[in-house]
Amino acid sequence: MRFPSSIALRAASVVCMAVAGLSALLWQSKMLPGLTFKPVLATAKPAAINPVNGAAYTPTYSEEGDLLPPLQYREWIYLTSGLDMSYTPRTAAQGDMSMFDNVFVNPEAYHGFLATGRWPDKTVFVLESRNAANKGSINKAGHFQSGGVMGLELHVKDEARFPGKWAFFDVASETKATLFPQTAACYSCHASHAAVDTTFVQFYPTLLPIAQKQSAFSPAYLKDSAEEQHK
Ligand code: HEC
Repeated sequence: MRFPSSIALRAASVVCMAVAGLSALLWQSKMLPGLTFKPVLATAKPAAINPVNGAAYTPTYSEEGDLLPPLQYREWIYLTSGLDMSYTPRTAAQGDMSMFDNVFVNPEAYHGFLATGRWPDKTVFVLESRNAANKGSINKAGHFQSGGVMGLELHVKDEARFPGKWAFFDVASETKATLFPQTAACYSCHASHAAVDTTFVQFYPTLLPIAQKQSAFSPAYLKDSAEEQHK
């Protein structure tokens, strides 16, 4: 979950945490104290709309167009973790900074995908970023996830509401996720490289074979794959 300091970040680099490239600025802005995310929020308001008791979540918006975030996403279906994923080569300035991203999707959408290889209306994805630490407890090698949530972003399919059927949101607080404008880089990268319907199914190992079987790949992804083979 991000808070006021993320304004600079959003202006500076409009890419999701999965491909943020971990600039020093980004890192510092995320490391402010008190940014820990409380997983199950008994105090979440209004409880009837965003329940933590396993009832289905439906995207709900304020009059200003903000989305009420799905606070129960840690009870959803886990798809993958990426470690320091980036579309640009790592720079020296990044030092040994390291970050995981964890991807979750709501269970109703997941079951729809298993059956059809397609994402139903009202699919909601969560991309959660956490520090990748290497020093702690008995650990001698490798990385583990440590500390609170450093970023929370959403990808929401709401066919009637958004021009391209999908929209991206940044979770700003427990009750508010703000919309990324259609001009943000989120939309173009996901549209030009994601395997299924602007989602990065090529990185979700349990879903990739289903998409393959159901011939659900996007033309953009098929093109990327063909180019990859010719390298
Ligand atoms: C340069 C390409 C690129 C850009 C720009 C980008 N993303 Fe992503 N995004 C990815 C990749 C790659 C993944 C897969 C992550 C993984 O496998 O862990 C991903 C996954 C996600 C997911 C998980 C669901 C899905 O669609 O697969 C969300 C949510 C997300 N990104 C949000 C955003 C937001 C918000 C922005 C803009 C602020 C953004 N992304 C910009 C490449 C990008």
